[in-house]
Amino acid sequence: MAHARAVIPDDFELPVEAFDIPLCYQGDLSGVVIPEGLVRDRVRRLAKDIHAEIGNKPIALLCVLKGSYKFFTALVEELTNARSACPEPMTVDFIRVKSYEDQTSTGQIQIMGLSNLDELKGKSVLVVDDISDTGRTLAKLLSTLKETGVEKTWTALLLSKRVKRHVEVPEDFVAFEIPDKFIVGYGLDYNQKFRDLGHICVMSPAGIEKYKS
Ligand code: IMP
Ligand code: MG
Repeated sequence: MAHARAVIPDDFELPVEAFDIPLCYQGDLSGVVIPEGLVRDRVRRLAKDIHAEIGNKPIALLCVLKGSYKFFTALVEELTNARSACPEPMTVDFIRVKSYEDQTSTGQIQIMGLSNLDELKGKSVLVVDDISDTGRTLAKLLSTLKETGVEKTWTALLLSKRVKRHVEVPEDFVAFEIPDKFIVGYGLDYNQKFRDLGHICVMSPAGIEKYKS
């Protein structure tokens, strides 16, 4: 079953001045695309959809670091609530994938922490990632999981960019669909900065310049 996504229109941006932005990032942002409170609301519903579809099965949650660390934490919390009457346990695993420099995908995808993957053999795995853009990262990870002998995979994404994918990947549970803009915050970075920012934002030219590699 296809689940509803919250679709953010192309021109939707809220003024940065209307939000509480950490001092270190003031001047570095030009708009708030998704406020943190809205992410929390959406993740609550997403967890209910995930539980309704997967049902009372044991499930392994795989956090794709670093970008999905905040989304993962929020989702695990909400899934724990949604599964309070579920007799089967949920486990958590972590993997690190790196592909971006500045604002562009390098096309070179490194998967780190592979020794953990063997533990997923024969299991049903929910892959939790931050964003699908070209689709290459998720495609590589899903094929690696298949080779490892994972029985079943689903994907849960915080964001899905409205762009043509280089590789088609299943997007089972998506919190938000967003326009084709480079965004930062809520775990997503620009050269490792802005991950700690709560709101999902667009950078200002000054911010791009300040943190470019
Ligand atoms: P893909 O392989 O092109 O789908 O890219 C996926 C990865 O690129 C994500 O997991 C992110 O780490 C990174 N990425 C893609 N778009 C953005 C963005 O707008 N901001 C920050 N990181 C991004
Ligand atoms: Mg990522």
